[in-house]
Amino acid sequence: MCGIFAYLNYLTPKSRLEVLDLLVTGLKRLEYRGYDSTGVAIDSPDSKNIVMVKRMGKVKVLEDAIQEHFTGGEYSEPVATHIGIAHTRWATHGEPCERNSHPQRSDEGNGFVVVHNGIITNYNDVKTFLRKRGYEFESETDTEVFAKLVHHLWKTHPTYSFRELVEQAILQLEGAFAVAVKSKHFPGECVAARRSSPLLVGIKTKTRLATDHIPILYGKDDKKQTSDQDADSGKPQVLPRSDSTSEFMPLEEKEVEYFFASDASAVIEHTNRVIYLEDDDVAAVRDGTLSIHRLKKSLDDPHAREITTLKMEIQQIMKGNYDYFMQKEIFEQPDSVVNTMRGRVRFDGNAIVLGGIKDYIPEIKRCRRLMLIGCGTSYHSAVATRQLLEELTELPVMVELASDFLDRNTPIFRDDVCFFISQSGETADTLMALRYCKQRGALIMGITNTVGSSICRESHCGVHINAGPEIGVASTKAYTSQFISLVMFALVMSEDRLSLQQRRLEILQALSNLADQIRKVLKLDSKVQELAKDLYQHKSLLIMGRGYNFATCLEGALKVKELTYMHSEGIMAGELKHGPLALVDDSMPVLMIVLRDPVYVKCMNALQQVTSRKGCPIIICEEGDEETKAFSSRSLEIPRTVDCLQGILTVIPMQLLSYHIAVLRGCDVDCPRNLAKSVTVE
Ligand code: AGP
Repeated sequence: MCGIFAYLNYLTPKSRLEVLDLLVTGLKRLEYRGYDSTGVAIDSPDSKNIVMVKRMGKVKVLEDAIQEHFTGGEYSEPVATHIGIAHTRWATHGEPCERNSHPQRSDEGNGFVVVHNGIITNYNDVKTFLRKRGYEFESETDTEVFAKLVHHLWKTHPTYSFRELVEQAILQLEGAFAVAVKSKHFPGECVAARRSSPLLVGIKTKTRLATDHIPILYGKDDKKQTSDQDADSGKPQVLPRSDSTSEFMPLEEKEVEYFFASDASAVIEHTNRVIYLEDDDVAAVRDGTLSIHRLKKSLDDPHAREITTLKMEIQQIMKGNYDYFMQKEIFEQPDSVVNTMRGRVRFDGNAIVLGGIKDYIPEIKRCRRLMLIGCGTSYHSAVATRQLLEELTELPVMVELASDFLDRNTPIFRDDVCFFISQSGETADTLMALRYCKQRGALIMGITNTVGSSICRESHCGVHINAGPEIGVASTKAYTSQFISLVMFALVMSEDRLSLQQRRLEILQALSNLADQIRKVLKLDSKVQELAKDLYQHKSLLIMGRGYNFATCLEGALKVKELTYMHSEGIMAGELKHGPLALVDDSMPVLMIVLRDPVYVKCMNALQQVTSRKGCPIIICEEGDEETKAFSSRSLEIPRTVDCLQGILTVIPMQLLSYHIAVLRGCDVDCPRNLAKSVTVE
């Protein structure tokens, strides 16, 4: 997904080369989101123009181009105040190429330049409007419309402030987006805004900030008056300034640096003080002062935006000794699962407290049904835990893909409890489904890994999975932590059920051994690498299992697809003879999960169906299960745990296998082609 990074230094001198370095580093931190091209814009040495550099491909290519382009000594001279904007683009409108990369500009003179995430849905109408007024378009992007519309407003409303121009442009646009805008006509100023696409502002000062909140403002700028033309032009009216904000101080610092970014990983090395912008917020910096404005006034608007202190460490987002973030994240799982349970599970007293939902438990217990909604891997964590949730809550549990759920206009009731599972907390489909359920009065529970994310903020209650930052586009440790979070929820719900106490104890016992067992599974790494050598030149891999391990088949196949670009399918073993068995012969690669759980006999049946068609499956079985192992020359043995947690141990070999196949095939492990870490468009 596209990434925005902008940097503004006010009375904190920096050379343009230093600014460029900051911009490039910011883009590197956003690389994991997935992108196909990059670009930056800074001031020219005389500060009268804007210079842009854009490139196809990786940030490294941009970095090399910057080194070639900015060679003059004037770029090393410190400037007291400057604003630079940068972007990683993931193509939605127009092919990936330099022309379509951001920043997009308003005119040949680079009067206004814009970096943009998301999609402007009515861009064709606006384009027609602007074309009639003489504007010519040089890209196929929707973003260019934004830059040119601001320019048009600037020409027709010369008294507007920069912030007002951007606001007026946004009011004409539809869709979901975040933008950061720079202009040669408003030097030293930056305006950024969000509508359904994440954006935050990082603040760095030498001394402690005098305030923890920034007031929200409505209406006109103090210093400039909007012209009377407004009322006649049919444009949305600017709202009068609210009086109720006076208790909060505006942020007026003498020496200050601001960072605008799509997520916290790009700012954390500079500052841990951030403001998460909300939909329809416009953040403007002018004369070093940050102000936050609302496009639309609503009764439940707070008076101010809080400055949050991030707890994330830079080391948490670095690769360490691993070759890839994904590899690091797979190997972090013994720790991340413990972090998910930390402070929540008391193994000595067999008690579980989930602070983020405890006040809602009585209401949840009275509900009609539980609905688990997510996309991709997050959806699979719901599939993996559905059976246990049904068993321990004794409630109907529906599991839904967010996109399909919305397509169907699924009926939702006030006494439904809806879980929105999302690593990023920003996935557009999941967020839309959340809003849909919220409007219909359901209780909304977020299961996310990203504190401050949209899903987190818009939920009534929730559980942070605490897996730590996940950078690799392929989700690994978030899956096991989502899995455990849902298991913990099931345990909380069954606390007072006498008949379920033995089952609960068995699960709690298994949870306490989980980290060690994951370590043991990770030791299979070299064996998995050998298996990858057998598989990597094939076109396809079928992954079969059932019961608690069906989710592992789906998740394993997703990992193989996204990382290796091979075809892979997760097959419910019970469905084999209803079609997929036709695929099996002596050359089709098959992997089967056969564990000593309640569906063991059925899985053995499936295994025999495969081997009798000359299939030679790789088997994942339990340690020491010689009988099952005897069916194949290739097997992976995993430690025994309680049936409902087996999926955590069986998914790890699948993560390792897809990782090794991807490396052998020369694929980009952390940023698979065409994919993005956080899918903020529908
Ligand atoms: C997983 O490997 C994928 N990259 C993808 O399926 C992901 O899980 C999905 O896009 C949902 O993301 P979320 O958890 O951030 O909502």
